[in-house]
Amino acid sequence: MADKWQALKEHQARVTDRALISLFDQKDRAQAFTVALGAMRLDYSKTNIDPAAKALLLDLAEVSGVAAKRAAMFGGEKINDTEGRAVLHTALRAGIDSKVIVEGVDVMPELRKTKARMAIFAREVRTGKFTGQGGKITDVINIGIGGSDLGPAMATLALAPYHDGPRVHYVSNVDGAHVADVVKGLNPETTLVIVASKTFTTIETMTNAETARKWMAASVANPAAQFAAVSTAADKTAAFGIDPARVFGFEDWVGGRYSMWGPIGLALTLAVGPEAFEDFLAGGREMDDHFLTASFDQNMPVLLALVGIWHNQICGYTTRAVLPYDQRLSRLPAYLQQLEMESNGKSVAMDGSALPTHSGPVVWGEPGTNGQHAFYQLIHQGTRVVPCEFLVAKQGHEADLAHQHLLLVSNCLAQSEALMRGRSLAEATAIMAQKGLTGAELDRQARHRVFPGNRPSTTLVYPKLTPFVLGQIIALYEHRVFVEGVILGLNSYDQWGVELGKELALALQPILEGASAEAKDGSTQALVEYLRG
Ligand code: F6P
Repeated sequence: MADKWQALKEHQARVTDRALISLFDQKDRAQAFTVALGAMRLDYSKTNIDPAAKALLLDLAEVSGVAAKRAAMFGGEKINDTEGRAVLHTALRAGIDSKVIVEGVDVMPELRKTKARMAIFAREVRTGKFTGQGGKITDVINIGIGGSDLGPAMATLALAPYHDGPRVHYVSNVDGAHVADVVKGLNPETTLVIVASKTFTTIETMTNAETARKWMAASVANPAAQFAAVSTAADKTAAFGIDPARVFGFEDWVGGRYSMWGPIGLALTLAVGPEAFEDFLAGGREMDDHFLTASFDQNMPVLLALVGIWHNQICGYTTRAVLPYDQRLSRLPAYLQQLEMESNGKSVAMDGSALPTHSGPVVWGEPGTNGQHAFYQLIHQGTRVVPCEFLVAKQGHEADLAHQHLLLVSNCLAQSEALMRGRSLAEATAIMAQKGLTGAELDRQARHRVFPGNRPSTTLVYPKLTPFVLGQIIALYEHRVFVEGVILGLNSYDQWGVELGKELALALQPILEGASAEAKDGSTQALVEYLRG
């Protein structure tokens, strides 16, 4: 294995100074470095990956055992072996006739039952058969955090054109400002609260759920009647007082950040309806089929992962910008931060040894064109290279604003072109000379206007941001994380790195209330002194 990494590094060293644009001397470069799934295209031709690098990367994927691990995941094996769990979010979107066996039992009948109950409940709420104590439900508050918030919140925003149900709001932060701002202006008599928590122990969620219950109790006789829950912990939802008829369960083999395809998608289902939610699942399913069957050199998640490995572990670029030219995907970067960084931000390999390479990159981003007026300066002229991932739809939903969509698309394409081409000193000098500058001032001013170029990007294009396409996009990223994780040799499905902070926060509560801070470091002691004063 080490020799494969070495071969890639040596190849990268040989080609590092080459102009990306020169790769297009090969006439079919764009076609050869674009992968399709139906009407969706992933163009990775504006990277420094050439046929030799691609072959080496594909080889790395082969020898890393991606195919075997993929079969193990879909087959229900306990690939999350630090928690002793299978990884089966794909079962949540599996086809009607599928069988998925976990420890000898087909889990699909139970999943289908829960899905049917979810659809019935969603229809009842949406039609007004299920009412609040003041009539038809007008608003839904989903209380959850991390995977119990980011996915459905991102998708609810993404699918705004499909909303025809109650208004859906999301509360996640333990900062009381969040719940206070959301409930302000809502009518408790016509609000449904969903407490979404895989474990039903997460302090933020349980605290916000208590606050919401008090808010509702101040106005309605039976607050519990307007609460639903989504969790793996039926005993805890019962202890909280939620009627089992409105509890939608799932199994521990669905990871929190992979859970939006099942009951955690309840708030989204209420917003867009069970049919649109079904289309979302179908999009994910299509990506699953593609991931399972396409050869690696035509496999979108595999290739996207290999681009990631090339940029992060081989080229040493430490961050990755996700830049959707799609305003409704404005929460996608935040969603991907959890998906990618909680999954692959680890320094220990499966066997407990230190990871021989760096872990996954820092993922960040904002929608275009907004980002262009904020941080693109650094992306174009900063000293560090930031690989960029553009996403853009062929068509917007606003037919009467097609001219704005054209502007959006032209900006998206312009940015990837500018990043690749750059502007040389000679070009900048010619431009400034035309403006009348001469001599040393011409040279000085021209230098500020140089764009180094050679900055890599990928572009994902899709017909329109429909529920189906959103499903494809999310499943694409999930499988990309899986492939990167297998190649890096780590477990993408645990998250021990979030535990220490939680433990220390618990210990700090009594200290903030007055207990001795003696055992704490000097900085923490001083901050405690200020904050509890
Ligand atoms: O603290 C991290 C985490 O465990 C995430 O992995 C998870 O998505 C989130 O907290 C919320 O967990 P739960 O759904 O159990 O409330």
